[in-house]
Amino acid sequence: MSQHPNGIPAHGGHLINRIATPAEKQEFIEKADSLPKVQLDKRALSDLVMIAIGGFSPLNGFMEAADYETVVTDMRLKSGLPWAIPVTLSVSEEVADSIKEGSWVRLDSPEGEFVGILELTQKYRYNKAHEATNVYRTDETKHPGVKVLYDAGPINLAGPVWLLERHPHPLFPKYQIDPAESRKLFLERGWKTVVGFQTRNPIHRAHEYIQKCALETVDGLFLHPLVGATKSDDIPADVRMRCYEIMLDKYFPQDRVMMAINPSAMRYAGPREAIFHALVRKNYGCTHFIVGRDHAGVGDYYGTYDAQYIFDEFEPGELDIVPMKFEHAFYCTRTQGMATSKTSPSLPEERIHLSGTKVREMLRRGELPPPQFSRPEVAAELAKAMQASTGN
Ligand code: ADX
Repeated sequence: MSQHPNGIPAHGGHLINRIATPAEKQEFIEKADSLPKVQLDKRALSDLVMIAIGGFSPLNGFMEAADYETVVTDMRLKSGLPWAIPVTLSVSEEVADSIKEGSWVRLDSPEGEFVGILELTQKYRYNKAHEATNVYRTDETKHPGVKVLYDAGPINLAGPVWLLERHPHPLFPKYQIDPAESRKLFLERGWKTVVGFQTRNPIHRAHEYIQKCALETVDGLFLHPLVGATKSDDIPADVRMRCYEIMLDKYFPQDRVMMAINPSAMRYAGPREAIFHALVRKNYGCTHFIVGRDHAGVGDYYGTYDAQYIFDEFEPGELDIVPMKFEHAFYCTRTQGMATSKTSPSLPEERIHLSGTKVREMLRRGELPPPQFSRPEVAAELAKAMQASTGN
């Protein structure tokens, strides 16, 4: 692998930048009023941002039919490059009918603000059941990712995009570190190997354990909590970020950890999403990526380690990021420490691990999760957030 000026190469060779230059921005603003308009939902907006900042390199826009088809069926772009999740802009028949291929489309945020441009190269109908069974391994609409798919419009609009402007994140400006910058910071810190950590849940001790196990063998840990759309019963991003700040302050070596927000939306596509998550972190400059138990899973749709097995479907070097696979971690009452079945002789009844649902139930009842599950400072922060949200 040749050394890229900013560390490892992005997926596909170079980091995409689709943020309008000042001259382009001016041109777009002048034309905006005369262009057909599409209002993005929260997920499409975060996809637009991810494309623009290079997080989804090599994508430079919403997928055309040929890429979409091969991604859905073979986990590859039509070029053969691995890619596991469709990135599409789905609209209603009426919206699609009102826009001609070849035209520029004004993209508005869910709040109606002009945020980007799509150069519409193609519109196409797609098969939702086919996408659902291939990407999500189910077509049940109880699955939150499948539900989003079935609620979406029947036509995909495709083509290159531009983001009008990269605004600081309203809640977490200090943690908005985009791929070009994270790559630079890794180099500045002299980190040759960096492990990325995806998360959508408040940090618990099993997370901390696998992060630190990984950190034993690489130079840096890139904590990358997802702050885009999640399902409604997931803990809100601001609460999760506060928990991380508390942990970083007290429990992590500051010089070996960097935290940044990941603007993406969750798909809950389990194994497929693990590949997608890994490629996105490669674009941020990571050389390694943590995949634990039921990564990006929901309910019982995926086997505990399916998100690890899927990495074997690619030839070595194709993904160009090393998955660091961890078994289900728990607190072991016999050895009195965090462990997995690889390192602990304990019986199941000697293991303390709580599901996210269980923790939420405890918090709702006003109980704190035990210190074997969650650091006390994090438990207290979660309890405070739960009280504030229920008004108790
Ligand atoms: S996810 O949807 O982003 O995967 P979560 O934030 O809970 O959910 O998980 C973040 C990462 O930690 C994933 O790689 C997941 O597999 C891993 N993980 C979560 N809990 C455990 C655990 N108890 N043991 C091992 N890995 C875990």
